[in-house]
Parts: sequence; C-alpha cells; structure tokens
Amino acid sequence: GNGYFTYDPGFVSTAACESKITYIDGNAGILLHGGYPIEQLAEQSDYLETCYLLLYGKLPNSTEKETFVNKVRMHTMVNDQMSTFFKGFRRDAHPMAIMCGVVGALSAFYHDSLDIADEKHREISAIRLIAKMPTLAAMTYKYTIGQPFMYPQNHLSYSENFLHMMFGNPCEPSNVNPVLAKAMDTIFLLHADHEQNASTSTVRLAGSTGANPFACISAGIAALWGPSHGGANEAVLNMLEEIGDESNVDACVARAKDKNDPFRLMGFGHRVYKNFDPRAKVMKQVADEVLGELGIDDPLLKVAKRLEQIALEDPYFVEKKLYPNVDFYSGIILKAIGIPTSMFTVIFALGRTPGWIAHWSEMHASASRIGRPRQLYTGPEQRDFVKLEDRD
Ligand code: SDX
Repeated sequence: GNGYFTYDPGFVSTAACESKITYIDGNAGILLHGGYPIEQLAEQSDYLETCYLLLYGKLPNSTEKETFVNKVRMHTMVNDQMSTFFKGFRRDAHPMAIMCGVVGALSAFYHDSLDIADEKHREISAIRLIAKMPTLAAMTYKYTIGQPFMYPQNHLSYSENFLHMMFGNPCEPSNVNPVLAKAMDTIFLLHADHEQNASTSTVRLAGSTGANPFACISAGIAALWGPSHGGANEAVLNMLEEIGDESNVDACVARAKDKNDPFRLMGFGHRVYKNFDPRAKVMKQVADEVLGELGIDDPLLKVAKRLEQIALEDPYFVEKKLYPNVDFYSGIILKAIGIPTSMFTVIFALGRTPGWIAHWSEMHASASRIGRPRQLYTGPEQRDFVKLEDRD
C-alpha cells in the first residue's frame, strides 16, 4: 500500500518487531527513516516532512506537504475542557506526570467516535496527536510556572508555534528567535522514531489489544519517562551540572567504571548502537552551531566534550562499545533554547510521537494479532496446597 493506513497484502506481520518504517545498524551506527539517512534528513528536511515520511513511507511532494502541514495546523487546539485536567496537579508536579495524564485524557474526547479498522480514522488520529502534543506540552510548562496557557498561532511554523506557546505571554507580541526555532525543529526530527525501542514497543503492545491511540501514546510516554530511556536527557544535564567543570570529569568516569557503584554515565551506551549513535553526532554539531550563533559559552558543553573524549579513549568504554547516544548533547541545546531540565523528556515525547503513531498505524494496517510476549518459566514445579496449620 502507499503507507500504513492501507492494508498491504505483501506485508504480513509475523512478529511485533517486523516493520518498514526505520532501519538501524547498531554496529555501523546507521539510522534510516524510509531508507533516508538521519544525517541527510536533519540537514535537508524538516520535522513535519519527516513526520509525513514516517506515516506514509515516502517524502511528500509540494502539494502533499502543504496539505499535510495545513491539516496539522487545523488540529493544534485542544478541547477547552482539557485545561480543567491540569488544575488537579500540584504546580511542582513533574511535567511527565502531567503529560501521561492529559495525553491519556484525549481518549475521552475521541475514543467513542474512533473506528481503528478505518484507515481514515487512523490517519486523523495521527494528525491530531502530532498537532496537539506541542499544545499540551506547552500547557504543561505554563501550568508549572503559573502563567496562562497560550493559544497556538497557526501562521507560525510548527516549531515556532511551540516556542511561542512555551515562552510567549498574552502581554507581549509573539517573538520567536528563528535560530532557536530551527534548532528545536532539528531536535524534534532527531527524536522522531527509533525502531522497536522500549516506548515504541509499549505503544505497539498496547495498540495490539485494540486500545485507542491516545491511550497507547500515553502508555508510550510512561515508558519513555524512565532514566534508562527518554529520561536520560534530563539525567545527563543533572550529571553534567553535578560534575560542574572539567577538573571533575576523571572522578566521574572512575565512578562509572566501578562495578560496586550504581552510577552510570548518563547519555552513554545503547541496547543497539555499539558505535556512535548518528543522532548524537548531529546533536553535537547543532550544539556547537546554536551556542556559537547565540554567543553562549556554556561550561557544560566543555564538560560534555571532555567526558566524551575521555570515555572514547578509556579501555573500559571502548571494550564495552559505549558511545554517546541521542541524549548526551540534546540537553545542552534545550538549555540554550531556554527549556528547563524537567521538560527535557517531554520534548523527547513530543518528538517521538510520529514514530509511535506510525508504528501503531502500521500494525493496524496489517493483520496483526494481540501481542503476547512468551516467557521462560523458572518457578516451582506443580505441588499440592498446604493448610495454614500444616505450614512451618
Ligand atoms: C534511549 O532503544 C532505543 O533505541 C532507545 C533510544 C530511542 O531513541 O528510543 O535510543 C533512546 O533510550 C537512549 C539510551 C538513553 N539511556 C542512557 O543514556 C542511560 C545510560 N545508559 C545505560 O543505562 C545503558 O547503556 C542502556 C540502558 C542505554 C542500555 O542498557 P544495556 O543494553 O543493558 O547496557 P549495555 O549493553 O549498553 O552495557 C554493556 C555494559 C554493561 O556492563 P556489563 O554488565 O557487561 O559488565 O556496559 C555497562 C553495562 O553495565 N554500561 C555502562 C553504561 N551503559 C552500559 N557503564 C557505565 N555507564 C554507562 N552509561
């Protein structure tokens, strides 16, 4: 078929992990979306175009792109009742706790009018989620700082609109720095999809039961929150701040190598990449460019570069094939954009939404069955019940 909204007889899903969307070669450090290298997409494409590529399996022509961008624009607002959900949270709630709640709450507005078997319903769900995640993410941030929610401004581009809703306020005209908007767009693009990672597998497993897409994405957000996964970008910044300056880097590396110390170098290592994560390379370039253009001399960037240099030369890390991953440099850029550390994983969730929903759609476009991971039983053999009085 022409994407994941129509059944493709040639595509029979034999396992949850069979997919046409993204290809990773962990040893070579290769990441392709629809066959296109992530480096080329980051350099020449933009986030919404990459969303289209993930959903339809091809790059849009100019008419298709304009239609898709306009469709997303028409769905950036959320039902006004959604703002009520925020009031139940403490102002200092972790933004990911709020996002799990409010994204799941979208189900309450659409699930009864949603026929998952209908490709058009799957398509509009994907567009609604891509369109509304920035609005909900910005509302989450505004709620935690006690400022009024900002409405989306649809004359702005997707990433400009997000930064407007994050940092704009009703008293000032919208004024988004194009350098930051471009960096934001690249960060979203670099997070867009990553094959069968933990949160995407969560979305697919939840989706395999027929659960509505909004609830499935909320499950993906929950899985992403963990510090071993998307929560690592927040943990990296906290680690870099704890290190403080380059003189403390050696001690930090020593701790990461100490088997008795649970400390791990956050932003290093990967389940699949045993080479450089290609996204980390692009992130590093963007960090240099953005801080250079803004004239920001962030000591944490120097600490990060020193840490990377030592780790890449240290036999422990070389032998275990531990390289910087997507989370290692992203926080430096997000900090330069003005996004607080507590919102970093929300940014990851926003960026990953098209990947999650593309996998969900792909699964429903094929004759998939409910997910049922097998287990290796290691418990006791069958035995008879023992009465309470007979137990020792
Ligand atoms: C993401 O799957 C995806 O694609 C995820 C993701 C995506 O886009 O969806 O790429 C996003 O989640 C990136 C990863 C972010 N997480 C972190 O940066 C947290 C720190 N990294 C580690 O927790 C760890 O590397 C994991 C969780 C990422 C991977 O876990 P593994 O596969 O169990 O660890 P590994 O195979 O990479 O480790 C091999 C060895 C182990 O030692 P041994 O048991 O062999 O003695 O290296 C050690 C690990 O203990 N090790 C580390 C380390 N990471 C692994 N030692 C020190 N510091 C680290 N960061």
